Amino acid sequence: MESREKDEPRMRTENPSRTDKVLRTTEGTVAILTLSNPPVNALAHDVRTALAIELERADRDCQVDAVVLVGASERFSAGADLNEFDTGIGLIEPSLHDTILRILAAMTKPVIAAIDGDALGGGLELALGCHYRIVARRARLGLPEATFGFIPGAGGTQRLPRAVGLERGLNMITTGGIFAGTDLVDTDIADLWTEENVRDVAVEFARKIAHLRPLPRLQDRDIEHEHGEAYLAFAAQKIASSKTSHVGAAAAIESMAAGMTASTFHRGLKVEFARFKELADATPARAARYQFFATKKAGRGGAATCAEPKQIDRVAVVGAGTMGRGIALAFVNADYPVVVVDPNAEVLSATLQIIHDELEKNRARGRATADQTTQRQQLISSTHSVDDAADVDLVVEAVFEDLDVKKAVFRTLDATLKPGAILATNTSSLDVDALAAVTGRPHDVVGMHFFSPANVMRLLEIVQAKSTSAVTLATALSVGKRLKKIAVVARNSDGFIGNRVMDAYTRQAMQMVLEGATPAQVDTALEAWGYRMGPFRVLDLVGNDIPSQARAARGGGMDEDWAVAELLVERGLLGRKTGRGWYRYNERGVPEADAEVANMIRPHAEKLRIQQREFTSEEIVERCVLALVNESAHVLEEGVAMRASDIDVAMVQGYGFPASKGGPMFWADQVGLRNVVRTMRTLHETVPSHPEFWQPHPLIVALADGNGPLAQWSKINA
Ligand code: COA
Repeated sequence: MESREKDEPRMRTENPSRTDKVLRTTEGTVAILTLSNPPVNALAHDVRTALAIELERADRDCQVDAVVLVGASERFSAGADLNEFDTGIGLIEPSLHDTILRILAAMTKPVIAAIDGDALGGGLELALGCHYRIVARRARLGLPEATFGFIPGAGGTQRLPRAVGLERGLNMITTGGIFAGTDLVDTDIADLWTEENVRDVAVEFARKIAHLRPLPRLQDRDIEHEHGEAYLAFAAQKIASSKTSHVGAAAAIESMAAGMTASTFHRGLKVEFARFKELADATPARAARYQFFATKKAGRGGAATCAEPKQIDRVAVVGAGTMGRGIALAFVNADYPVVVVDPNAEVLSATLQIIHDELEKNRARGRATADQTTQRQQLISSTHSVDDAADVDLVVEAVFEDLDVKKAVFRTLDATLKPGAILATNTSSLDVDALAAVTGRPHDVVGMHFFSPANVMRLLEIVQAKSTSAVTLATALSVGKRLKKIAVVARNSDGFIGNRVMDAYTRQAMQMVLEGATPAQVDTALEAWGYRMGPFRVLDLVGNDIPSQARAARGGGMDEDWAVAELLVERGLLGRKTGRGWYRYNERGVPEADAEVANMIRPHAEKLRIQQREFTSEEIVERCVLALVNESAHVLEEGVAMRASDIDVAMVQGYGFPASKGGPMFWADQVGLRNVVRTMRTLHETVPSHPEFWQPHPLIVALADGNGPLAQWSKINA
């Protein structure tokens, strides 16, 4: 063991390495390599290049006894640069999975990973390839590849189970979870846990172990488990019979099974890389990467860019129904003091009780500490009068979806709340300009459309009325961020983004039922395609009277497509709540075909001179999803949405569009816009009702003619 000489300079900073992506400094005989690629130190090609050079240089350098690898800005590394997957640069040498990890394995001097912040994906795989790991207790570790539709490809399935055990490793890999250091302290993932500066602790540690040999490598260990193979076989069986397990789970198990011992480690790596490559190149993984970046972009750009958001310290939620309760909970979970306003004392007290119970459940599930829970219980209060909320900075109205009712509430709020307070409405489709117009502060009015349950669903549609100021918009966005929502900005218009394009989708479902498909056929086709629930099961769940009331509230009359739904409403077939809707629900709540519905639809179709016929699942999916695509093009052209990817974000995050398909815009690009146009033109010729809808929108036609993918289209750049 070596100790530092008293007169030795504490730190020697050298000229930076050939690129500034890995900075080399030395302290005595310890070389410190700092990954420096803001904001998350992703392992992009230039980082890997510099790292390979610096590792080899340190190994050759007689002045160096040990190497500490650390991330700049107290963040080790968020792993592979997700941008590089689709360009192929991710695998260009020096690659992580091959070159860098091979260099590490061959190093003659100890390499110590000093981990703070995030060590995720390739970042953690890099650390697992080092000889030692010093980890901050607050660090976050994980292999999130599963959440991106693939498996780790740089030894994660091999080294992680050697560090944390087979069962823990399998769980971490198949869930893609991100774990706090404190959750892993009982494992061998770290040689030392610390609450101090990891870099300093690692340098000190490096001095102590610099001359210890042999150098410990995880690859030289077996994966220890009494019945390892049997356990993996059992896990594989469980996964095969599960409907919800992630597509890569079986591949992860296969890779682990291939490399259970030190002598089969390289075989495990080989299987892992083959399965990684296959999954990472497939559409679900490409769709997941697209959604990742689309959610980051959502809410950016536009009017709010240069405005400074107002500070929001206190919030009121008006209306203690299901939505109001969820919204209040979302704010409390983000540590906002919230007052819930509702004139009905009974509803109010029930709501408060549910909020308290939910906070307690969060604590029980480990999502909040006991202290946080107590503090949050104290943040929530209630009142029957808006007067008691006069000094809040933001109010979210969540009363009954009726324009006149909401206007009355807005008048009261305007008269009561302090000047400058922001008035937000949770309406899902009503005219936000009309609400703004009844106030004396239209520039402070904005839509904040939450999705149910509002404390769980991540989508937030922020609706910009004509009068909404940039500051108000920026404030709504900044509040959305603190609530950890994915905010998408929509211009005020009927149905905003989400309900507008979903209306086109549901209409096609209705039309096809009139043309001879059964509700069950439509649902089954879309569910087999990836929707968790088909449109008729959704309508039965929501209640058939709800869209009917919403249409009436917006002044929309019965039209041909929705008339068929009105027939159900007239007969009291409101859905699950009445035991009958598009389906008849048996005593166990299982939906069954209802002959009365079919008997009701047939004469209606005859009246409209629609000839009924058989449908294939493919036709059903094509018509519903293409309806989303064509309506979205109108939404884009009208400026209701700023960019195509915002629509994909809304559809996937809020409306159940299968994440593995990326969203309707991304899907259309995969199908090929020329094919999209061709099919729409055929539908234009063949669909009996509203064939005009099937004129492909000029934007799609233009893009199909070679002007670029639809999913990348943006009004901001146009
Ligand atoms: N590759 C490329 N860019 C990445 C990235 C990655 N692996 N991880 C994050 N980024 C980018 C984001 O796109 C964002 O860029 P932007 O500011 O230009 O929009 C920026 O880094 C910050 O990310 P953000 O998510 O906003 O920061 P955060 O502090 O909330 O979260 C992480 C940080 C690392 C937890 C989060 O970004 C994350 O989970 N990233 C993915 C990590 C991962 O799964 N790695 C393994 C990939 S196989």
